Amino acid sequence: MSASRLGRSALKAAKGPAPRPPKNKKTSPATRNPSPSLPKRANPHLLNLNSAEPQTRMPPRIMTILGVSVLGMSTYCGYLYASYRREVTQAQSMTVPEDVSDRYNHTARTFDADVELSEKLMRMGAKRRDLVQQARGDVLEVSCGTGRNLEYYELGEKRALDEKGRVGVRGCRSVTFVDLSPEMVAIAREKFSKLYPGFGRVQFQAQDVKDVAPPSPSSQGQGAYYDTIVQTMGLCSMPDPAGTLRHLGTITEPQDGHILLLEHGRSHYDWLNRVLDNLAPAHADRHGCWWNRDIGQIVRDSGLEVVEEERWHFGTTWRFVLRPKRP
Ligand SMILES: C[S@@+](CC[C@H](N)C(=O)[O-])C[C@H]1O[C@@H](n2cnc3c(N)ncnc32)[C@H](O)[C@@H]1O
Repeated sequence: MSASRLGRSALKAAKGPAPRPPKNKKTSPATRNPSPSLPKRANPHLLNLNSAEPQTRMPPRIMTILGVSVLGMSTYCGYLYASYRREVTQAQSMTVPEDVSDRYNHTARTFDADVELSEKLMRMGAKRRDLVQQARGDVLEVSCGTGRNLEYYELGEKRALDEKGRVGVRGCRSVTFVDLSPEMVAIAREKFSKLYPGFGRVQFQAQDVKDVAPPSPSSQGQGAYYDTIVQTMGLCSMPDPAGTLRHLGTITEPQDGHILLLEHGRSHYDWLNRVLDNLAPAHADRHGCWWNRDIGQIVRDSGLEVVEEERWHFGTTWRFVLRPKRP
């Protein structure tokens, strides 16, 4: 044994054995594995310096930012909730008629700007395009509004292969746009003439959809029915949506004709339906639209045959391909 080791053993023997904790007393990990003794004034948190645990303490700056953010968020949520309760109370005290379709005469000029952001966020442009590109033959668009679907039409018929590789005819032979509001129709007509200056087989009618008659037969024996009827976001605005669909069924070509719908209404979720129900009167009064309608039930009540059905946005956006019921 070297002289230095001999010296250390002698010192250990002189100090005696290390003190044991009392038997019945609970010991903390720190006492069980005592850290090397530190001067009394040292920061007690530094005791963990030698422990195997990683350091998880957050810098005070981050803690302050987080605290302020949480406070801001909770204040904002509180404000939102208070406004929602106020709106609900106000909405529930209103008496709004079932027919709010006249509202569009006042909102026509601001309609596009009002819906632009929400439609962008919900990617409605793509949904409108996918629906409207199916239109072919003599086409009728009802509740056309300001013509938000115009840019998606394929105007003029052409021969093309269908998805099964069969030769068929695509595109629209003629298009007729109908809306109850003359102001909305005027905007749609203006947009159309800019988009398709050379296309002549087009008509605009300010008319109730229930009064729309079938197209007059052409010299080639075509017509008397529409091959495709399009409606987007229209069932929410009319007083008798199922009756309207039933009428559309009578002017749709019975063998191959289709009614294409993109609508909004009730959700899959009860909590969201409660919000829609609570605010419906105020929304209808301001925007001319009952946003809590059960579109599926309206379609079933119409008696039309469902060819395709799809829903998005918590179930509030509905897409249907319908056709007249075959006997
Ligand atoms: C929410 S806007 C939708 C407009 C457009 N289809 C769109 O997707 O942006 C509803 C439209 O339905 C029209 N409308 C309401 N009741 C109608 C009726 N009975 N006949 C024809 N159009 C009607 C309104 O004038 C309004 O332009």
